[in-house]
Amino acid sequence: MGKLITIPALFDNYIYIYRYDDREAFVVDPGESRAVIKVLRAQNLSLRAILITHHHADHCGGAEQMQKLFNCDIIAASKRIATPNCSVKDHQKVSFGGISIEAIFTPGHTSDSVSYYMTDQQMGEKVIFTGDTLFTGGCGRVFECDMATMYNSLCKLSSLPDDTLVCTGHNYTLENYRFSLNIEPDNELVRDCLKKALSQEEQDEPYITNMAQEKKTNIFLRSDTLEIRSILKMQDVDVAKVFSELRKKKDSF
Ligand SMILES: [Fe+2]
Repeated sequence: MGKLITIPALFDNYIYIYRYDDREAFVVDPGESRAVIKVLRAQNLSLRAILITHHHADHCGGAEQMQKLFNCDIIAASKRIATPNCSVKDHQKVSFGGISIEAIFTPGHTSDSVSYYMTDQQMGEKVIFTGDTLFTGGCGRVFECDMATMYNSLCKLSSLPDDTLVCTGHNYTLENYRFSLNIEPDNELVRDCLKKALSQEEQDEPYITNMAQEKKTNIFLRSDTLEIRSILKMQDVDVAKVFSELRKKKDSF
């Protein structure tokens, strides 16, 4: 009985709990511990592992306290996380309780950014936890790597199966779609997404998409399309330059 639980935390972060059986769960990017512990206690769950996508405090600030409480593993790919952790390698898989989690290195936002691709065979569920690399309708700021590295990381994620749920580290959805429509006002698919996201926001429900939708409506994943290239008048340049131009525009939006 698998179940994804989304916990809005801090200012606009998302923390995820995935309950893979009646008694156990793992958590992704606990920037704080209180809200997570409350959910785990309410559902009588023990914590098997903490996955961390990168070293920023809003993604790992609650890990130490939760590790002390549950004596569980912390999985990361960073030497910049203070709490002792199992450092994973690119494409390394860890398995427990009928699920498999593959670490996919996605540098760009930070040099230690990693995404986690979970498959739950029993539930037939596929989920990618993207941290601050891929957002719904957008992507993270590029702090520690060059633009080509970030674009390459986004391409790795967009090659995952279409029915993979995309669980992102922040809720920047509305501003991402508004930015996209500012660049491409006639994109009806994005307009529909904005409507749905607004309606979910009104009901206080997270708006979680899948990779098929991201490939169609995420402007950064569409850097290489004729539409975006012609809007930006960048038909004949390297796609990383097109991506870079979009990212710069978003930074100042
Ligand atoms: Fe971050």
